[in-house]
Amino acid sequence: MGFGNVGREFARLLLERRSELRRELGLEAHVVAILTGRHGCVENLKGIDLRKALRLAEADRPLTSCGRAIAADSVAYVRRARADVVVEITPLRIAAEQPALDRIVAALTSGKHVITANKGPVVYHYARLRDLARRKHVGFRCEGTVMDGAPVFNLFQETLRGAHVESFEGILNSTSNYILSEMEAGRSYEDGVEAARRMGFLETDPSMDLEGWDATVKACLLANVLMGGRLRPEAVPRQGIAGIRAGRVQEARALGRRVKQVARGWKEGREVRVSVSVEELPLDHPLAAIEGTSNALLVRTDMLKELLLSERDPGLRQTAFAVYSDLIAIHEGRWLP
Ligand SMILES: NC(=O)c1ccc[n+]([C@@H]2O[C@H](COP(=O)([O-])OP(=O)(O)OC[C@H]3O[C@@H](n4cnc5c(N)ncnc54)[C@H](OP(=O)(O)O)[C@@H]3O)[C@@H](O)[C@H]2O)c1
Repeated sequence: MGFGNVGREFARLLLERRSELRRELGLEAHVVAILTGRHGCVENLKGIDLRKALRLAEADRPLTSCGRAIAADSVAYVRRARADVVVEITPLRIAAEQPALDRIVAALTSGKHVITANKGPVVYHYARLRDLARRKHVGFRCEGTVMDGAPVFNLFQETLRGAHVESFEGILNSTSNYILSEMEAGRSYEDGVEAARRMGFLETDPSMDLEGWDATVKACLLANVLMGGRLRPEAVPRQGIAGIRAGRVQEARALGRRVKQVARGWKEGREVRVSVSVEELPLDHPLAAIEGTSNALLVRTDMLKELLLSERDPGLRQTAFAVYSDLIAIHEGRWLP
């Protein structure tokens, strides 16, 4: 579901690694259907020719010649599809009810594993989807939703099982961090935004980045998946970088501090709290060194003191890798986080 930037990069990765998957893991991965919004929906149970699909998509042409056309009702199709795994990578919508949620529920209910990098359905419904997957004995994995390919959920839910996350602080929105770095280097806010747009970092709806929505959704995801929270993004204190003056960023730097957008999660009694704010960090703070499009997460658990995970300049390959690593996990029977 979805053959855009992430879907196409995932297809490239599958093509590159097809023989390795077969040789090392005994996994034959065939894409039997591709559904898009405006470029057609096709099924080919023998396996879609991904090279051809990529050629067509890159030329902005419909995929109709890649297989049999599928009728428009994607939820009904997911229910009856002859597939083992559904990969949901359609555009982000911040809303509790949305078609992507209906497709994921239809896939899990009909006994299919689900992998998604789409934050929208997971942030509102993680506990429900996890429980549904457990009841149906299928996998539900979402590693690509936070920090692209960095193994955030895998790390805490698999490798560090038994350790409880007590709090976190992170730089989670690459675009905001990039614009702040540009301002620190002497550009205006507007020039920073324009540079991000030119480089293709800015979301189609810029408010997702500039008004702090993306960071807030990711912080809620971390809180809901790793700390048992039930947070909704619209209920969280949120500050984006819109309105931050370049002068303030440069003055802070001159005083030995750096302006950063920091997402925090912590516990207050049994409640989990989250906030996203633009702050001045001292230079010796571990997050102060995170430059440009890089991002980072500092986590405190009851077992380890502070664990810092940082990802340098993530791109599409890293998000596609998250989907790919989730596919391997499902193949190996590691069905949740
Ligand atoms: N890009 C990243 O670096 C990144 C990183 C982490 C997570 N993500 C998440 O991954 C998801 C995909 O991102 P993207 O950058 O690949 O987006 P994108 O380039 O805009 O692609 C979205 C794809 O979804 C298709 N689509 C739209 N509505 C659909 C529908 N109702 N049914 C089936 N397909 C539909 C689109 O088809 P048409 O083009 O034909 O409309 C397109 O193929 C998003 O949720 C995003 O937040 C992205």
